[in-house]
Amino acid sequence: MNTGDKKSFTPVEKLEGSITVPGDKSISHRALFVSALASGISKIDNILIADDTMSTAKCLRILGTGIEINGTTAVITGKGVYGFQEPSSVLDAGNSGTTARIMLGLLSTQDFFSVITGDNSLRARPMKRITIPLTAMGAFIDGRDHANYLPVSVRGRRLKGIDYTMPTASAQVKTGIILASMGAKGIMTIREPLNTRDHTERMLKASGIDVKVSDKIIQLVCSQKPLPLAITVPGDFSSAAFFIGAGIIARSSDILITNVGINPGRTGFLDILKKMGASLELANARFEAGEPVADIHVTPSKLHGIVIEDRELIVRAIDELPLLAVIAAYAEGETTIKNAEELRVKETDRIKAVVDGLLNIGIKAREFPDGLRIEGGKVRGGSVSSYGDHRIAMAFAVASVSSEKEISIDNFNAVSISFPEFIDIFNTLGHR
Ligand code: S3P
Repeated sequence: MNTGDKKSFTPVEKLEGSITVPGDKSISHRALFVSALASGISKIDNILIADDTMSTAKCLRILGTGIEINGTTAVITGKGVYGFQEPSSVLDAGNSGTTARIMLGLLSTQDFFSVITGDNSLRARPMKRITIPLTAMGAFIDGRDHANYLPVSVRGRRLKGIDYTMPTASAQVKTGIILASMGAKGIMTIREPLNTRDHTERMLKASGIDVKVSDKIIQLVCSQKPLPLAITVPGDFSSAAFFIGAGIIARSSDILITNVGINPGRTGFLDILKKMGASLELANARFEAGEPVADIHVTPSKLHGIVIEDRELIVRAIDELPLLAVIAAYAEGETTIKNAEELRVKETDRIKAVVDGLLNIGIKAREFPDGLRIEGGKVRGGSVSSYGDHRIAMAFAVASVSSEKEISIDNFNAVSISFPEFIDIFNTLGHR
């Protein structure tokens, strides 16, 4: 593995300041997709400009969608569900699972041939979870291991709505199926095993789609046409989480993070931190683009270890579990995370990557097939690998705030996947 772009982080005396984080990654992807499917001009403010969202924009442009980006404002000229053109080259989703899985939904509705691929990490991530329901809806899909791995080819057509029970909780898959229903006939019913983030359902309601949601069942009449959007994307909770974690474990801190999306499908991290003894203040709660938003005030807290095993909570905190494991290094006693096998099929095997990193900075940690155990202790510092995974890189940067010696992290440029401004914002907070 290329270990270039190593960055070192020294401990800090104090973290303080008022910050905002860039727009939400999940909502930005969805805003691009829904705008592309609408007929007319959409305007999305505070869209996330990062590698993952730009992978979505690039693929949509190749399919004929007009996308102009100025600063963090995107103006998108959508041509409607049947206005896309056959791509003459392979679509590349880069590192983005969200791009690949949602795009497969859109491509399945198109009466043309397309192929989608991704980088080394994405080509090793499971796609059957989305290709199985889309095939059941009538799309012709093929790929390695019976369409489980990219590159995947699609010949789409007018699909039919089905009643689908999802075996795995995944908002990406749910979204891919919902968007596929825009080019289908009949009724689409999706049954989720657990509640997952509902950004798509909220956005579609804002764009005039009648979608019924109750008790993990999402139902809609197919072939509805979304209206163009005019929205401002809230700050990304998953990006804010790094500064929430840093403020909590810092020797001294006083951080205000304004305009953070607090969709309940995303904030399991806050609930877990509270169970571990953290006190956090949320203020100025309001709605932005149909999404709940607030300002979050963070100061240091003394934490104790807990067992995290509730599946609903795991799903609501899935992207923050590597960070939680790192924070648990600073808690008194043991923290155990179970029922989190999904972590093994993220951008890297995040269970292995976190345990490996924790051991390298002097913390006792152990892997299980579906999780890990961390023994709180003295964080000595040392060298860790990000495994090219943006969230692993940022989690270990956070670990440095109260470590004894510096922590150096390889492949730190991976943060450009979701949060290119991470180091700049981190530096504005720190007094070394
Ligand atoms: C996402 C859903 C989650 C999450 C990912 C973004 C989304 O993945 O981990 O970072 O935008 O829908 P799954 O849908 O695979 O659970």
